[in-house]
Formats: sequence, structure tokens, C-alpha cells
Amino acid sequence: MLELRQPRGRRVVVTQYVYPDALRRLTDAGLEVVARDDDRPASHEELVAMASSADALVCLLTDHVDEEVLRASAELAVVANVAAGFNNIDVAAATRAGVAVTNAPGVLTEATADLTFALLLAAARRIPEGDAAVRAGDLAPWKLEQEPLGIDVHGQTLGLLGFGQIGRAVARRAQGFGMRVLCSTRSRMSAEDERAAGVEHVDVDTLLRESDFLSVHVPLTEQTRAAIDADALRRMKTTAVLVNTARGPVVDEAALADALARGIIAGAGLDVFENEPAVHPGLLALRERVVLLPHLGSATRSTRTAMVDLAVDNVLAAMAGERPPNLVNGNT
Ligand code: DGY
Repeated sequence: MLELRQPRGRRVVVTQYVYPDALRRLTDAGLEVVARDDDRPASHEELVAMASSADALVCLLTDHVDEEVLRASAELAVVANVAAGFNNIDVAAATRAGVAVTNAPGVLTEATADLTFALLLAAARRIPEGDAAVRAGDLAPWKLEQEPLGIDVHGQTLGLLGFGQIGRAVARRAQGFGMRVLCSTRSRMSAEDERAAGVEHVDVDTLLRESDFLSVHVPLTEQTRAAIDADALRRMKTTAVLVNTARGPVVDEAALADALARGIIAGAGLDVFENEPAVHPGLLALRERVVLLPHLGSATRSTRTAMVDLAVDNVLAAMAGERPPNLVNGNT
């Protein structure tokens, strides 16, 4: 039985820059807001100090909210993450301490699925390489063996590792490209729902072997960490492209850089990295069929606004003594 603290004070501490309109919603509700006006993550020490006076903490995915942060105040009642993923928060420790943890799911599904497809297309059709060639004045006359020559997307097989909201939104886009869509997930839909979604559930081995494009959509947990390792990469087609818009550590980045350099797989589109903001030098060195983005999945103005608004909804509910709409304690 989940026992969570009831808020006693009214202080909401915001760890990094968030939109002023969102802060206003908190003050309009009579809460005292202490907002750090910096768009870089605070040090761990600063985070502990901020949490020590908080009844509610609004944080971003670059804040590592560990047990020390969670135990910094006996009054802390809720931690609201401005992200769908919550691997930056020790939810088990929060639950033990009676602190509610919330995330911001749903509102970024379509934007992240759009970006997944953009990466898939960019890596397959080598769009950044074409753009770079034009900018370098390297616009040779049209010819058959034109560089960069890409691979087809339409009619190919897309494999989805994980089939939550974002995986499903990617599957919907793939239908428009006439793709065969496979998925592998722990919590399967009914066979009827799978048919309606136009996907075929397969085991991970089949997913790896049959996908022309493999897209990662699992959360980061101890079970999914390095799920795509050297062995998994070896089981993929040599022509395959790996896309990751979920969490970097689901893919063993050194193994991926090696697999790409040695032609074990053909390409990659990556929006997330194992040790963000650092990127494995082996990946940075690869320019052909490898597209790298700085965690842009949810990066549209309207989506980011909706994410912050959802975090505020969660804080307002928790501070009113209600169950926040996106409570994740017990979901890990
Ligand atoms: C999330 O919300 O988990 C995304 O990674 C943010 O882009």
C-alpha cells in the first residue's frame, strides 16, 4: 500500500528555467515559488540545498534526484519531472521516503514520433550529407551513381523495441510509408488490437533479424540497459539502420560505434546518448549514414510548453492533497 506524505508547507522549488506562465499558475494558486533562473543543471550539492527547503520540487531530466536529494527535507511531498522518462529520479527511494513522483507523458508522443521518423528518413536517405554537399558547393550534375545514394524506406520492415505510446505513434507513421511493422514488448496488446494497429508481435531475436530499421522505444530500466549490445547488433542485418529517441544507455554506444565502423550494421539515427551531453568519439567520427541530434524528441515550442504545464498540474494536485494525475510511484 502506497503511503505518501501530505504537503504541509507551500514552497515549490523549481530547479532550472521553466516558462514564466507556468510559474504564474503556481503563484496564482497561492504557492510560494522559488525558481532558479538558469537553464543549466545545478550541481548535486546545489540540488540538495534546493530540495532542503522544498515542499514540492519541479525538475528536468538533467537533474539527478537521488536518495540524498529526496531525504534533504522531511517536508518534501512531491517531485514533478518535466519529462515522460523518469530514470533521473530514484523512484524506489522516493516511495520509501513517502515522496510522490510524477512525470509528463502523452503530450510529447506525437512530436517524438515525428522526430523518430525524421531521423529514420535522414539516415536512410542521407539528408545531412546531401545538405553538407550543397553547402560545400559540391552540387555535381545529376547522375545515376550519385552520392549520397541512400536506401528505401517505403515497403521496408520497421522493428519497434517497445510498444508504448511513442512506439504506437511511430507505427502509425510507418503505415503511411507502406512498411511492415514488427514490435517486441513485455506488455503485449491483444492479438486483435495488434491487428488493428497493423503490427506483428515477435520475439526480440526475430525483431533483430528481420528489421531493416530498428527503433528503440523502451524506458531505461535495469532490464533495458544495454539491451542493444554488441551481440544484438551482430544479429541485425548488415543493411539495417538503428534509431534511438528513447534513452541513450539502452544502446551500448561503444559497441554501436564499433558495429557501424565495421559495417556490422549500415547506419544510425540517434537523438539520445549514453552519457549526455557527451557523445562517444567513435560516433562523432562517422559521417556517412549516421545522424546525431541533441535530444530534440520533444523540442517543439508547443510540446515543451505542454510538458511544463503537465508538471504544474501535478504539483497543483499534490499540493492540494490530491493524487497527482501522473503519479509514477509503484510503476517501476
Ligand atoms: C522525455 O520527456 O522523457 C524526453 O526524453 C524529453 O525529450
